[in-house]
Amino acid sequence: MSDEAGEVHETWNSRWTFIMAATGSAVGLGNIWKFPYIAGENGGGAFVLVYLACILTIGIPVMIAEVLMGRWGRSSPVHTMYKLVDDIKAPRIWHGIGWMGVAAGIIILSYYSVIAGWAIHYLIQMISGNIQGIDGQGASDLFAAMLASPATMISFHTVFMLMTMFVVIAGVTKGLGKAVRILMPLLMVMLIVLLLFSIGVGDFPAAVKYLFAVDFSSLSGSAILTALGHAFFTLSLGMGAIMVYGSYMPAHAPIGKTVLTVAGLDTLVALMAGLAIFPIVFANEAIAPGEGPGLLFVSLPIAFGNMPGGFVFGFVFFALITVAAWSSSISLVEPAVAWLVETKKATRLQSGIIFGLLCWLLGLGTVLSFGAWEDIRLLGLNFFEFADFLTANIMLPLGGLLMAVFVGWKMHKEIVRRELDIDSDFIFKLWRWILRVFSPVAILWVTMEGLSHIFGWPWLSVLSWFG
Ligand code: TRP
Repeated sequence: MSDEAGEVHETWNSRWTFIMAATGSAVGLGNIWKFPYIAGENGGGAFVLVYLACILTIGIPVMIAEVLMGRWGRSSPVHTMYKLVDDIKAPRIWHGIGWMGVAAGIIILSYYSVIAGWAIHYLIQMISGNIQGIDGQGASDLFAAMLASPATMISFHTVFMLMTMFVVIAGVTKGLGKAVRILMPLLMVMLIVLLLFSIGVGDFPAAVKYLFAVDFSSLSGSAILTALGHAFFTLSLGMGAIMVYGSYMPAHAPIGKTVLTVAGLDTLVALMAGLAIFPIVFANEAIAPGEGPGLLFVSLPIAFGNMPGGFVFGFVFFALITVAAWSSSISLVEPAVAWLVETKKATRLQSGIIFGLLCWLLGLGTVLSFGAWEDIRLLGLNFFEFADFLTANIMLPLGGLLMAVFVGWKMHKEIVRRELDIDSDFIFKLWRWILRVFSPVAILWVTMEGLSHIFGWPWLSVLSWFG
């Protein structure tokens, strides 16, 4: 890492700034909205265990690799890959890591923004009093009414895209970074309030049993692939977002410990969200764990509608979800915007507008997939499901696989070792072998089992080769 690189991007003053920024990116809708509903769709316990195992054995090692690549390359993912490939004279095909990341970020943001729009809509529902005293049926009806109104969803999708583009164009990530430093702990406090409420009035034992009692017989190939994909999604991994943050990291900050902190906080928030939501789900006949993307939005209003001061808590909670989504969404387009700016073909304003419009347009497909386009399906998936499947379950794991192979097999061992600055020889070797062998093989295998299960291609299933 050369000194002149420092002139392009200033580095952050402390490790904590990186931790806050990366946590801001990692903690978002993935933890609070997506994790509970996919855990519910995939039967709970066994899925949760596989997800945790994926975080530990694949997510963390690959995240260390991604931060390291960013710190070495010190620019946007596309140009970082150009530089790294140049440095070690690797074939140009490796540039694909950067390009695929740009594409994945745009597709993810398109639907991410629609869901964040739901949170803004609910924030307003809270103050308008529509939630007061609501029961399970009422909450389901309220959600259905939102889905039946594309105009509502498009309006709030537009609001959220404008918020995201504002920060990206103004480059005020520093301001948002400071805000996140206060709002993230507040989010934790709110989750604790919600958790206490759920323990009090919901069916907490049923929720604990559901999330942590492991029954492997309920686990399918597609559930394992979803768990792997979510490990990448929730850590913002495999598309260059973490690379961008890594590029701002001071040269001597310890990457390993920093990554462990971010992954730990991220996992904590997801588990807390699950423990807050499922007691309410199990206490209400009208809501099923496998409810789908609406799970958060049909369960939490019941809590807020019936607790003292619920409408204030509810308002604050949905505001915090919006902010958490906001600090994540920025990292989804930043690789694209930074790339275009670096080519000097467009200003920051122009790139922001171009990619903002693109994401907004794509987002309309997600809006419609909850209504008029519900039956337009590719491989059995509607627009939203397809965008989510393609990015989270295919592109991110593939990006992660390539990063693992690149850092593990292509980059010079001594450079990697110096960059990581790990005292223990054993830990370094362990990490490197996990990255070289375990992570790539596990990603490939899980993806093959998943695809074979989902599309009914038995020849792709490694298990079937032996059975
Ligand atoms: N991790 C975020 C969440 O859990 C979403 C996100 C932000 C993301 N940046 C990303 C996902 C990059 C994948 C890649 O809500």
